[in-house]
Order: sequence, then structure tokens, then C-alpha cells
Amino acid sequence: LRLFSGSANVALSQEVARYLGMDLGPMVRKRFADGELYIQIQESIRGCDVYLIQPTCNPVNDHLMELLIMIDACRRASARQITAVLPYYGYARADRKTAGRESITAKLVANLITEAGANRVLAMDLHAAQIQGYFDIPFDHVYGSPVILNYLSRKGLSDLVVVSPDVGGVARARAFAKKLGDAPLAIIDKRRQAHNVAEVLNVIGDVAGKTAVLVDDMIDTGGTIAAAAQLLRKEGARQVYACATHAVLSYPAVERLSSGVFEEVIVTNTIPVREDNHFPQLTLLSVANLLGETI
Ligand code: R5P
Repeated sequence: LRLFSGSANVALSQEVARYLGMDLGPMVRKRFADGELYIQIQESIRGCDVYLIQPTCNPVNDHLMELLIMIDACRRASARQITAVLPYYGYARADRKTAGRESITAKLVANLITEAGANRVLAMDLHAAQIQGYFDIPFDHVYGSPVILNYLSRKGLSDLVVVSPDVGGVARARAFAKKLGDAPLAIIDKRRQAHNVAEVLNVIGDVAGKTAVLVDDMIDTGGTIAAAAQLLRKEGARQVYACATHAVLSYPAVERLSSGVFEEVIVTNTIPVREDNHFPQLTLLSVANLLGETI
């Protein structure tokens, strides 16, 4: 078994390697003057099971291309099995056509990864679980929820209501609620008018006087979760916690999340969180052991 890291989240790859008691494999990564990437695996991997860890986070196109080049390099070096490990699968929100003449980019990404030569994919908390079906190779879909639930359980919160910030996330929130002692569920009826602009309309369920735990797969600009939290406060929630596996944290997420509406914002390290994106309410949990165990 050999483990290699792309440049997207080296700290996470190192943690996974430590968990597995091994070193990351040596790899040269260079950028030419015109921006093209060069990758060379620097040891023999002939006949090996190779794991390539690379979340395709921002800048998504660069990180995706790097992953594809790594896969191609391993295939041409006669690796026996190549597993693409995507702690975060970029373009997952483009999982269907919502209007005419659009791309289903999540499927295009699946085609590219397969065509490059991956034999297996391991990804965490896909925005839409059906993306697994875009691949005709084995796919392990790992959830970050055990890490978050374990942390939440240790806090001993009471009078909980688990809240899905949109209708699409109900299954995820329901599973969460079940693990939190069958906590009641509430749903936010959200209507989106433009990309990255969320409009919250209504809460379905009772949140008054309760500790609300919002659960989402990702926080990008923070618009969805912050608007949901404001509404929950307005409806009488005593405290609001936000939980999400992927901390995309595009501008102006930090402003929105640190505005005081959240007791705590709990995320994992599938995507590296830049130092200047840290704020007092942020709790960063590691999925390294979970990934290591799955590998
Ligand atoms: C949407 O369906 C997703 O599950 C997230 O709620 C959304 O992508 C988060 O984006 P933002 O933080 O920009 O509202």
C-alpha cells in the first residue's frame, strides 16, 4: 500500500499517513512558466495499491487537474490498483440539470477520474449520494457524521432539535437526529433565487426554547446556514449550533458565521481552513482517523 498527497490538503494527508503508520510517498510537483503542472512519482509503484489523497477544493480546477495527472502518472507506472481519495468532491452541486443547456459537471468529473485510470474512489459526504452512480468502478462513500456526532454527544446538550437548512438535506438531518437520541427534526423551507444567494422562508417544526443543531454537507458563503440560524433565533431557538463536514468558507462566510448568531460552528478538515478564516466560534475536527480506517 502506498499513499501520495496532492497539494490541496497536505496536512490531512500527513495525519492519515501517521494514523496508518507510514510515510507519504515521494512525488515531485512542479509548475511550468505557463501554468502547466508536472508530476513525477519518485519511487517504484509497480504492482502496488496506491491511494491518492486530494480534495478538489478551491481552486477546484487546479486541484482536479493535479489529481488527474497523479492518477495518470500512477497508471503509467503500472500500479496494480489506484484509489482516488476525495475528502471533498468539487462540482458535486452540479449533479443534475436544473435548466436547459447546462452541464452535469459532477458526472463530467466522474468520467475524467475514471478515464484517467482510477480503479476505485473514496469520497466523503457527497453533496448528492447519487453521484456514486456516476462511476462504474467501486465507490466508498464515507460520512463525517460520526466525528461530529461524537463531539456533539460529549457536549451533553439537551432539548435538541436537529434542523435541515433545506429540503434537500432532510435525509442527512434525519440520520443525525436519530443518532442524537431520536431528537425531533425541523426543516427550513428555502427558496434560492440565484447561485450563492439563499432566501429562507419558513421553519417546518417546533424550535422555540430548544437548542437547534443545523446540519449541512458544506458551508460555502455561509448564506444558507446564517439565514437559517437567524430564522431559528426569530422563531425562539435558545441556541443555534451549525455542523457541516466541508468548510468551503468562501467570502463572506467568516463574517456571516462569526456574527454572534451561532453558539458554535463545527466543521471538519476535509478542506484546509486558512489561518485568517479561523474565528472564535469555529471548531475544527479531524477526519484523518476515519479516512485512515477506511483505507
Ligand atoms: C446546498 O444545497 C448545500 O447543501 C449547501 O447548503 C450550500 O451549498 C451552502 O452554500 P452557501 O454556504 O453558499 O449558502
